[in-house]
Amino acid sequence: MCGIVGYIGSNPCVDVLVSGLEKLEYRGYDSAGVAIVRDGVLETRRAKGKLINLKRAIKAEPTDGLLGIGHTRWATHGAPTVDNAHPHRSGEIAVVHNGIIENYVELKRELVGHGHVFASETDTEVIAHLVNHIKTARKLSLVDAVRAAVRRLHGAYSIVVVDASEPDVLVGARLASPLVLGFGTDENYLASDVSAILNHTRDIVFLDDGVLATVRAGSVTLTDIETGKEVEPVIKRITWTPSMAEKGGYKHFMLKEIHEQPRAIADTLRGRFSLERCEVDLPEIPVTAEQLQNISQFYVIACGTSWHAGLVGKYHFEDLAGLATHVELASEFRYRRAPIDERTLVLAISQSGETADTLAALRDAKARGATIISICNVIESSIPRESHGTLYTHAGPEIGVASTKAFTTQLAALHLLAIRFGHLLGRLAPEGVVRELEALLHVPAMMEAELEREHDYASIIRSWHQVHSMLFLGRGNLYPLALEGALKLKEISYIHAEGYAAGEMKHGPIALIDEDVPTVVLNPMDAHFAKVRSNLAEVKARSGPVLTVATDGDAEADEIGDFKLTVPDVPETVLPLMMSLPMQLLAYYMADFKGTDVDQPRNLAKSVTVE
Ligand code: F6R
Repeated sequence: MCGIVGYIGSNPCVDVLVSGLEKLEYRGYDSAGVAIVRDGVLETRRAKGKLINLKRAIKAEPTDGLLGIGHTRWATHGAPTVDNAHPHRSGEIAVVHNGIIENYVELKRELVGHGHVFASETDTEVIAHLVNHIKTARKLSLVDAVRAAVRRLHGAYSIVVVDASEPDVLVGARLASPLVLGFGTDENYLASDVSAILNHTRDIVFLDDGVLATVRAGSVTLTDIETGKEVEPVIKRITWTPSMAEKGGYKHFMLKEIHEQPRAIADTLRGRFSLERCEVDLPEIPVTAEQLQNISQFYVIACGTSWHAGLVGKYHFEDLAGLATHVELASEFRYRRAPIDERTLVLAISQSGETADTLAALRDAKARGATIISICNVIESSIPRESHGTLYTHAGPEIGVASTKAFTTQLAALHLLAIRFGHLLGRLAPEGVVRELEALLHVPAMMEAELEREHDYASIIRSWHQVHSMLFLGRGNLYPLALEGALKLKEISYIHAEGYAAGEMKHGPIALIDEDVPTVVLNPMDAHFAKVRSNLAEVKARSGPVLTVATDGDAEADEIGDFKLTVPDVPETVLPLMMSLPMQLLAYYMADFKGTDVDQPRNLAKSVTVE
């Protein structure tokens, strides 16, 4: 996500802020800014694009002071423009924010009613106006105004606030988005990420959710946002190198991003449904019930891992909305003369929004009259810009080349879209909508628990790291996960792997099975359980080593396979989300054990902008 740095102390801070933001550049961003309190006056400098542009803006109009905040923005609400860049201000108050404010539309309406004038399209700006409004109306200190304001926010946030009329205090607060506090001598720091402040201090407090930090040059007070009670800071001495700090202490970005998935999925779902109304709200997708009823063809186009997400989506669209769905490799589709007319709906899926084949296929379909919608992780990238509507995943920047959190957030977005379509088409009754939403809403917590089981992989990796070829078998909506498991493994460990629909086994691939070719069998207790278990027995009968990915508590899986990993017992529609973790972690640990370049695998690029 975005990057935050805040400083209060006895030294001019503009360099501390800008160099802190430089340390956060690796996360990706599309605009940046600082707000400095200079001689009791709030000054902001903001720029679109890279930090060099911000530096130029500061050089053109120099500013400096003993209190300030800085931000690099990865756009989620509103295009990457100067007006949308943080810090956002209201009078003499400025705010930087990471996260998503779900109820910003209601709050904005209320604040406009009180005479506040908004200058951006962001959700963040409501925080600045809300703090200002509460502070003025109730005659509160900045700290108390921030406490009252954040209690009205729904969603996820880490924020840092300054007020030129109180130049001796920096206020931070967090809920479901990271914020750290760094201790110096007569100076203190707040940041979204340790790496931003590691050059200045190694004494860090990782703030907990629901904590408000009142930071002065010589003191820090932490309090519970709700109760106002003081919270004891737990200071940790950080020994990480700068490169470890960028990865949040994980060995690779890919592992960090695997661990970010619960948060990324929660962010992707946030604010997009109402359990009370039994509805999914996706105003960004301008497809009506009438249009859906009259569709001639529904194509999903994508490449690589995004194509695998599309294949899972097919099960959602067909099961929940009764919509016949053609999932197409964009590189093939663009050269076919598939039937397309004004009643065709095309869904393009792309994490980067720049994949050349997907973009070309989209343009061709659009030129032939189709309505284009997309699922994308990068706001204002080419695919969203050329679509009639885009559902953004809120995964935040993905740095590891092998896609992980972008994939699972695509799965969550596809599920939401299918629920919406099912509802519009009258195929999904209100109870069905609630059932699907509740299944999705449980996923982040279950993923957190599953991520704790990393030690389960050690014996598998020790036994299998020297194999040259592996098979992955799955059925139903786990067939695409078998493809994804095989793709992840080959991309980063360079072990040849193939994914198959388990029922296809006996039509060819079974010839490959012997004691040197392990098979990963995705065999949880779903509708295909018994059939897939028979496939597993067929592999064992031919001396093939087997890793079974089974449902928790399936004792038979221990006896029948050589190794077992498990996923919790969840509704079938969210099994692909839960199954993603073992697929990703298996590939990751295999590659790490072999010592390959996990984050930058050979021959691969993060964004494939050429054919
Ligand atoms: C695999 C991977 C690629 C991408 C593919 C499409 O881990 O990341 O297969 O999924 O290049 O990229 P996007 O989603 O950006 O269109």
